[in-house]
Amino acid sequence: MLSDSFDRKFFYLRLSLTDVCNFKCDYCLPDGYHCETPHANLSLSEIELLARCFAKLGTNKIRLTGGEPSLRKDLVEVMQICSQTEGIKQLAMTTNGFKLASHAKRWKEAGLSHVNVSVDSLDPRQFELITGTKTFSKVMRGVDEALNQGFEAVKLNAVLIKHMAETNFIKYLEWIKHRPVEVRFIELMQMGDHPEYFEQHHIAGDGFKTLLLRQGWEQQIRAHNAGPAQVFHHPDYAGKIGLIMPYSNDFCASCNRLRISSLGKLHLCLFGEEGVDLRDLLSNSAQQDQLMQRIETALQTKKVSHFLHDGNTGATPHLASIGG
Ligand code: 5AD
Ligand code: SF4
Repeated sequence: MLSDSFDRKFFYLRLSLTDVCNFKCDYCLPDGYHCETPHANLSLSEIELLARCFAKLGTNKIRLTGGEPSLRKDLVEVMQICSQTEGIKQLAMTTNGFKLASHAKRWKEAGLSHVNVSVDSLDPRQFELITGTKTFSKVMRGVDEALNQGFEAVKLNAVLIKHMAETNFIKYLEWIKHRPVEVRFIELMQMGDHPEYFEQHHIAGDGFKTLLLRQGWEQQIRAHNAGPAQVFHHPDYAGKIGLIMPYSNDFCASCNRLRISSLGKLHLCLFGEEGVDLRDLLSNSAQQDQLMQRIETALQTKKVSHFLHDGNTGATPHLASIGG
């Protein structure tokens, strides 16, 4: 089992399949994706080896991320490989939902069990302003289709953006009254690319927690392989609310995830480090033991916290680079 020097255990791997994205979210890629240096994303055989090694080291959950993972032409094969890896019990994906309506069925058949869709606003105009695309109804059709397909879980991600957070929160509460969907509000994180956006738009999530508790919502106990969300439920609502608050004090104490970039670097944290290159060990499965050793050794250098409070965004220009 992978563990670090602070005795945290790592069950959960976030695997970025590409850093390309077709949306232009204000807080992430406001000018859209630009390719700086042409590069080759991880191949299917490299992904297969990574999945196998991580599973041997105790990983039981893989989340496919990006950029936008559905832009990978071989996504279905990636899903088949990951879901069929011995030891992997959960295959999740975070997507902007652009292809969800047309692909949900195929993805489910390929072994995808959990889907998170980014929907920052339920107001179509506002959604289009944030994402820079006219795709609200398409994405929402995708959400409906994912619900129809009966995935183990369909969750929505909404970044908390100051000027619209409160109205959006209230709209979402109505929306989940009769829908069995968990909506997760994520505190905006400061990234290297545009510090001023953070200054203007960040709002803390704890005010929303107080509001929920006051209205009779109850906080759930966290599963060992769950993400960092604090999840709340209420007897009158079919859905749930999750709050992801990376600026809260104990956020890093429950860290259980590692990240692999689409170029094969191991990232021990979203923030503040360059990543450990694994690529030279991915071309030959005979190097499996060396690969596992490198991962275990790297983990011993994982720091206790992200130090975001000190304004440390480190080497991460935007989340499209290592998939959030
Ligand atoms: N702060 C918080 N969340 C972000 N995301 C992307 N950039 C940021 C940021 N700076 C979210 C996306 C998506 C998830 C992968 O991360 O909206 O839901
Ligand atoms: Fe694309 Fe996600 Fe970044 Fe939006 S947040 S631009 S959907 S990678």
